[in-house]
Amino acid sequence: MRHLLSPLDFSVEEINDLLDLAVDIEHNPDKYKDACKGKKIATLFYEPSTRTRLSFETAMLNLGGNVIGFSDANSSSASKGESVADTIRLISCYADICAMRHPKEGAPLVASLHSTIPVINAGDGGHQHPTQTLADLMTIRSLKGRLDHLTIGLCGDLKFGRTVHSLINALVRYEGIKFVLISPPELRIPGYMKEEVLDANHVEYEEVSSLDEAIGKLDILYMTRVQKERFFNEEDYIRLKDCYILDMTKMNMAKPDMLVLHPLPRVNEIAVEVDNDPRAVYFKQVQYAVYVRMALILTLLNS
Ligand code: CP
Repeated sequence: MRHLLSPLDFSVEEINDLLDLAVDIEHNPDKYKDACKGKKIATLFYEPSTRTRLSFETAMLNLGGNVIGFSDANSSSASKGESVADTIRLISCYADICAMRHPKEGAPLVASLHSTIPVINAGDGGHQHPTQTLADLMTIRSLKGRLDHLTIGLCGDLKFGRTVHSLINALVRYEGIKFVLISPPELRIPGYMKEEVLDANHVEYEEVSSLDEAIGKLDILYMTRVQKERFFNEEDYIRLKDCYILDMTKMNMAKPDMLVLHPLPRVNEIAVEVDNDPRAVYFKQVQYAVYVRMALILTLLNS
């Protein structure tokens, strides 16, 4: 039995196979409509979500399976003090696979140690969000045609943004990747990401504060929201929340084939006027996420 807790749990070859399966699902959905008949996914969401929970549930329904779960820790027995370890033991009696989101880093790992079903990390604190990364990889591969030799700008909250951490972990394994890390000094990428991931893999990167100066050299711009829920101090959040706003003035400085991705939800960091630009692909990313989560459910249930 396998779990997905970090993007590194799958090799590059396994990720390529999974993306190939997702593309086949995209083009031949009928082939997979009964693939999980009689199976259930449990979505255990201790933290708010729109996309991740509903796309996992859509993925399982598209595969002919069923869904159980909760979308709020307060409506579960966690509110009475039940541990993640105990919860997963009983969920293992009800479901065949589960997706867990939790505000505490490492909670899905703890669950996996006590589980008899595959556990998927659907986001743990400011740590990792590996299935968002799979959606990001499918978006880039489908629309750019490759996952190598790209200059990728990651912009916004690089300190708390778990999608950024997972995406960097996944992309350092491809040839010719360069990162431009665009953030205010307070929201720079954590030191462990620089030392253990970027430097350890000899990946080229630069840290800058100006989106205007960086945008012209990017193949991909990955915008992120400032993660309000991770701040200890509201004043700091208010000061930093609008530090970057991508608008058409900035888009006009970008390459004609640069893609704009965002894991969503968006707050103010991308002006609505950008939505109509063909380079804005964040809503396509949402659709790719369903295919890739279908492929992941199939892969984990068959492993
Ligand atoms: N991208 C993402 O994780 O969105 P949700 O928080 O809505 O699941």
